[in-house]
Amino acid sequence: METILLNDSNSQLEKAAEFIKNGEIVGIPTETVYGLGADASNEDAVKRIFEAKGRPTDNPLIVHLSDFSYAKEYTKNIPELAYRLADRFCPGPLTMVLPKNEKIPMVTSGGLDTVGIRVPSHPVMKKIIELSGCPIAAPSANTSGYPSPTSAEHVMRDMSGKIAAVVDGGQSEFGVESTVIAIENENSVRILRPGYITREMLLEVCGEVIIDHAILHELEAGQKASSPGMKYKHYSPKADIIMVESSIDDFISYVGGNISEGTYCLIFDGDEKNFPYKFLTYGRDSVQQAHWIFQRLRELDDIGAKKVYVRAPSAEGVGLAVYNRLIRAAGFEVIRI
Ligand code: TXA
Ligand code: MG
Repeated sequence: METILLNDSNSQLEKAAEFIKNGEIVGIPTETVYGLGADASNEDAVKRIFEAKGRPTDNPLIVHLSDFSYAKEYTKNIPELAYRLADRFCPGPLTMVLPKNEKIPMVTSGGLDTVGIRVPSHPVMKKIIELSGCPIAAPSANTSGYPSPTSAEHVMRDMSGKIAAVVDGGQSEFGVESTVIAIENENSVRILRPGYITREMLLEVCGEVIIDHAILHELEAGQKASSPGMKYKHYSPKADIIMVESSIDDFISYVGGNISEGTYCLIFDGDEKNFPYKFLTYGRDSVQQAHWIFQRLRELDDIGAKKVYVRAPSAEGVGLAVYNRLIRAAGFEVIRI
């Protein structure tokens, strides 16, 4: 199959929507990362998303709607708290896990009786949902296990020949995927995957925000995952990622004692003065680091890095999302000095 590149003009977005209505898969920009979109109610189309990504079939897809008011068409027993959260955070990078109804096929929900609902704020994604008239199932548009794509070029690299089209909507603004939450009761939510909507922001709307243990810790054998995505290796470039939590001076000494052919470092902006080894930087604060992290992990593969020492980011606020992606890329190994 030839994968065509579309721009974000109206006529091209109509073409993208036409593909989706016809059961094809399209790479679509969102404010978080690029998604691999198909009609969430079309079982064959959804199956082909799993094939294109090489994704385990028990890992559910998020369903994207143009407005939260449509959530009741695909879910049931929506708690009042979900509406309060939607008022505050939709459209935007928040996914709420809700009980699904029969309009969402089991292939889409990975066999679960719940579905993740998200209302993206990116105008291109919104327009494509409206034009297609479908709820759009979309995982991140990377090959399963690889870092998520934050540009149309990343999607083309992973998906060319496997999907109908990619819509170029520029570089993703936030750079990490949405915050995924489950609603525990009328006043409490659990974060299943941290993202741009932080614990502190959620606390403005609900009394309690639980951070699931698996966000920072590896699941132990036999332990049940609150979200299937927690079970799988994620965000990993080909290079071996090693996280080092330390001052810049200790980081430099540690790397010096462990350096070998093909070693690179991923450090903060501001660390680079007199830095003695090959490096890339990934921003100064958590917001910048979220924006750049996946792009840099892909670049490190492109330049042939074999081993990458990453200066561990702050795990506060949006930083928790960056820390979570990196600790998973590193297989949960952190060197603390
Ligand atoms: O920002 C995003 O969320 C992007 C863009 C494209 O919207 N999408 C995305 O989808 O990151 P994906 O499939 O790469 O990640 C979805 C995560 C997975 O870890 C999955 O296990 C979890 O959300 N998830 C989805 N539905 C769930 C459900 N019903 N219950 C628990 N976890 C769920
Ligand atoms: Mg993903």
